[in-house]
Amino acid sequence: MALYSEKVMDHFRNPRNVGVIEDADGVGEVGNAKCGDIMKIYLKIRDGIVEDVKFETFGCGSAIASSSMATEMIKGRPLAEALRLSNRAVVEALDGLPAHKLHCSVLAEEAIKAAVRDYYEKNGIAYDPAEFSAGDCPSCCG
Ligand code: FES
Repeated sequence: MALYSEKVMDHFRNPRNVGVIEDADGVGEVGNAKCGDIMKIYLKIRDGIVEDVKFETFGCGSAIASSSMATEMIKGRPLAEALRLSNRAVVEALDGLPAHKLHCSVLAEEAIKAAVRDYYEKNGIAYDPAEFSAGDCPSCCG
């Protein structure tokens, strides 16, 4: 069996939503200390909806595929839904990732959460910090 699913390869080769939103309403940047990869998410919010989302990922193919899929999953969706996006949902949408690459999808979840928090803080919107608790990071990170 191939190491990577067709969906992973597709999103890696043709990533969706790559780029920068200059006047973003929220920006989140996270990194993985172990592999050194960095992911940045830009959000444009209108009336509580993720009107636009872009990403820059300086990292492995799985991180790029995860960012691409995650941005597709939150685009046009309510902010609360974007906040609930889990790395597991991203991995499922990609038809799986190898166990040692699951942490790459955690970056996507964390970057989106960081961007939403940035939006809340810039706009003085109260939020529950529990909603931003660390991702469902699998044991592969250890
Ligand atoms: Fe670091 Fe994939 S190896 S994000």
